[in-house]
Amino acid sequence: MKEAAHYLKTPGLISLGGGLPSPEYFPFHEIDVKVPRPGYLGQEQNGHEEGEIISMGMHDMREGKSAFDLATALNYGQGHGAPQLLRWLVEHTEIVHNPPYKDWSCTMTVGSTAAWDMTLRMFCRPGDFIITEQYSFPAAIETAIPMGVRCAAVSMDAGGMLPSSLDDLLSNWDSVRRGGPKPFLVYTVPTGQNPTGSTQSIERRRQIYAVCQKHDLYIFEDEPYYFLQMQPYTGEDSSPVPPPQSHAEFVESLVPSFLSIDVDGRVMRADSFSKVISPGSRVGWITASEQICDRFRTHADVCTQGPSGFSQLILFKLLDETWGHPGYLDWLMHIRLEYTKRRNVMMAACAKYLPKDIVSWTPPSAGMFHWLQVDYTKHPAYLNGTKTLHKIEEDIFLACVRHGTLLMKGSWFCADKIEKRHTLFFRATYAAAQFDQIDEAIKRFGNAVRDEFGRLPYINGVNGHAINGHSMNGHATNGYVTKGHDTNGHLHGHSNGELNGHVNGMTNGDSNGTNDYANGRH
Ligand SMILES: Cc1ncc(COP(=O)(O)O)c(C=O)c1O
Repeated sequence: MKEAAHYLKTPGLISLGGGLPSPEYFPFHEIDVKVPRPGYLGQEQNGHEEGEIISMGMHDMREGKSAFDLATALNYGQGHGAPQLLRWLVEHTEIVHNPPYKDWSCTMTVGSTAAWDMTLRMFCRPGDFIITEQYSFPAAIETAIPMGVRCAAVSMDAGGMLPSSLDDLLSNWDSVRRGGPKPFLVYTVPTGQNPTGSTQSIERRRQIYAVCQKHDLYIFEDEPYYFLQMQPYTGEDSSPVPPPQSHAEFVESLVPSFLSIDVDGRVMRADSFSKVISPGSRVGWITASEQICDRFRTHADVCTQGPSGFSQLILFKLLDETWGHPGYLDWLMHIRLEYTKRRNVMMAACAKYLPKDIVSWTPPSAGMFHWLQVDYTKHPAYLNGTKTLHKIEEDIFLACVRHGTLLMKGSWFCADKIEKRHTLFFRATYAAAQFDQIDEAIKRFGNAVRDEFGRLPYINGVNGHAINGHSMNGHATNGYVTKGHDTNGHLHGHSNGELNGHVNGMTNGDSNGTNDYANGRH
């Protein structure tokens, strides 16, 4: 039936075919949106003060005003999305990734989460295993579980998935012991990985790709953080690296994607506007070989039916008719510098407040997450055998809340829930809190860790020397120094009143954070 739509182009044809409602009955006559003007950088603060109003009318196409309008966008369309926006996405993909084979193609999605869900339905059967990083995006894992699909986890280091571990896993796969066939699908987040913040270098990507060729694996690269690649971290004492001066330099500075090195057509790349335009737009796209895209499109026709017409139209007007490719690249360069500032604030706070003999980290080069490793083996209760790694994680998490900050437990991101853990991590994001809040939250995290480890808190610039009468937020320090004081009323009073205020304060205006807590899956 969808194919019958092609005949609508026949001159003089009166259609009594498709069940499309008449735009006469759409109660939206015009939509106006205010957006940052192209070339706004340096002229407007974040593009909010002054902007350009773009209007979308009901019959702009018929009236020769635009290539897309409300009458078309708000009606039924094809599962791959409106051709107007799709063309722009294909051009963008060519500019940035230029896949090295001819028959690649793009199809719109309602974001990467849905793209992954659809991919699992297309590729897997109950009982299959997929390969993921050892710590991974919880929604990706939990999408698989109800389908009866299990995760086989590959070890990571600060540079992401380890090719040798991937090779070992597959070379030594024992279907009987594992209770399932050798996996053929890899889910990876190569850039600014969630939760570890790690980014695979081009050498690492090439090695992983070679292992995938050896074992004939298909790669799903989930890349919502690709354009959150930041300026190199140089530390506080060295001068910053100058940002890219041109679009070409910017594109050149990005780590090449798996898609861009995919000579076999074994990669499906998922892009998303969620982290660079807005998560609520619910628009993304996949790029893969035509063979795969065709299946995906057919699937979308009976599943999502493509993203919302409102979103597609607004994005088309912004990206194609207002900014164009150069304007979008300007925007991405702007976002890069904004995240660089945020990341640097968090790194400075970590250096200032965290006990370095207990907490260690690698500065992220992309994404919105900072992954902090806690050396639980130094915990007095671990040394005397009274607390497990799991209990220490739980207690640090609760201590963080008492001290007025919220970080995510590393265990929430474990792909393989059965395998025994030997590392303890917390995930912090610098994406949304104000700079001074990032600083304060890390200070509180440092104090929570010290509290848990029975150390003195960090107070007023003196690391580990809390002295009589000095306090964090005006409370006596005693409560923080020895475990026996945890319940003496100071902390309870503190957490029930003031700290709740802080926690709320930190989550209000932090929409990503609020979603985090509400959905528990980002
Ligand atoms: C790795 C990863 N993939 C996908 C998503 C969600 O992307 P989308 O909003 O496009 O579904 C997230 C966001 O939290 C993520 O961390």
